[in-house]
Amino acid sequence: MTGRAYRAELLSVAHDPRDAGPEAVRHEPDGLLVIEDGIVIARGAYADLAPRYPGVPIETLPGLVVPGFIDAHVHYPQTDRIASHGEQLLDWLEKHIFPAEKAFVDKAHADAVAAFFLDELLRNGTTSALVFPTVHEQSVDALFEAALSRRMRIVSGKVLMDLGPEGLNDTLPSGRAESEALIRRWKGRGRLGYAVTPRFALASSDEQLADAGALLAEHPEVLMHTHLSENLHEIAAVAGRFPDSADYLDVYDRFGLVTPRSVFAHGVHLSERACMRLHDSGAGVAVCPSSNLFLGSSHFNFGQADRCSLRLGLGTDIGAGTSFSMLRTSGLAYQAALAREDRLDPFRALYLATAGSAALLHIEDRVGGLELGQEADFAVLDCAATPLLARRTHEADLATRLFALQILGDDRAIARTYVMGECAWKRTP
Ligand code: GUN
Ligand code: ZN
Repeated sequence: MTGRAYRAELLSVAHDPRDAGPEAVRHEPDGLLVIEDGIVIARGAYADLAPRYPGVPIETLPGLVVPGFIDAHVHYPQTDRIASHGEQLLDWLEKHIFPAEKAFVDKAHADAVAAFFLDELLRNGTTSALVFPTVHEQSVDALFEAALSRRMRIVSGKVLMDLGPEGLNDTLPSGRAESEALIRRWKGRGRLGYAVTPRFALASSDEQLADAGALLAEHPEVLMHTHLSENLHEIAAVAGRFPDSADYLDVYDRFGLVTPRSVFAHGVHLSERACMRLHDSGAGVAVCPSSNLFLGSSHFNFGQADRCSLRLGLGTDIGAGTSFSMLRTSGLAYQAALAREDRLDPFRALYLATAGSAALLHIEDRVGGLELGQEADFAVLDCAATPLLARRTHEADLATRLFALQILGDDRAIARTYVMGECAWKRTP
């Protein structure tokens, strides 16, 4: 056979340890990953597996191999507005974000930012993401073209916002026509997927929210991606505009936007009713701890989410989020949980950053677990990336090393990133 194999310490968490227990953790201290045409065809202990593949060249990788990270909520056009000072959500959008997003009317600008953004994901070990572009159709083309050339698995869709400011709004007919054109244009290409993307309840008219629900119903393969219950001023504005709705989630529900293929970012302030309804609908929540801290939105309530058995993934939410690193974001998720007296185990955090996010994106059969038949997207983590990490992880057990990587690690701890079995990023020594 033709193919290649990588020898390394392997770690993955394909199922939520909350539900599956410690069995969810799969670890080969000296493992072998055999890959053909970008797909994992064998995985196990090196000593068992190597004799079965005598002709296959084996490369030894310098670190702990985990599935490529999957960022379940991120805005590529906000890359250049990270670290914008001084405001909570609504004022931050007006002052810093909307002006920056207007520039994406220019396809060349969108191309340049998309290229930088995807390279930055790879530098951080992230191989898949659910991405907000802007209202402009060409901002989606720019991202998808750049993802296609890097063979990355990316899901995105034109932002719908007919109540947006001048230069950053669409209309009911243009939003519908451009969304349909993009779905048609990109269907089945590379590893790309489409998400109907109303920005949030406040940015769309009732008619556009209803139309987004209709679009979703007409295209059962696409996702729905939006924001939910992030900030108290936002929630008050939603309650003011929709006085008949039970809560923020109910607004989306009334327009047919709460489905098993819906991904809601944040969900920081959820009523018990909304939490149960999310569970019953099968929708998922992308937890964004870095962003929640940066915008003063408060901490995600893991205890409540777990009582409702919510489906969860993890997102950086760049540019309210302040790091592209899903390691760092995992460490912040731990701290957010602890602030509410909940605990987030490092293996569960790894699950959220990989297979959990994959499940939200409905790509868990393809990526997220380094399981047989899955695409060989993975990151090589360097426990000795900095003197402090090296000191803290020296002769430490797996849980200690993983937690140290989450608390102390970032892009420096990514030695290499592989996409479909090929090296897509290699740190210079
Ligand atoms: N709600 C509506 N738009 C946005 C956005 O761009 N970022 C965040 N964090 N929340 C939003
Ligand atoms: Zn966001």
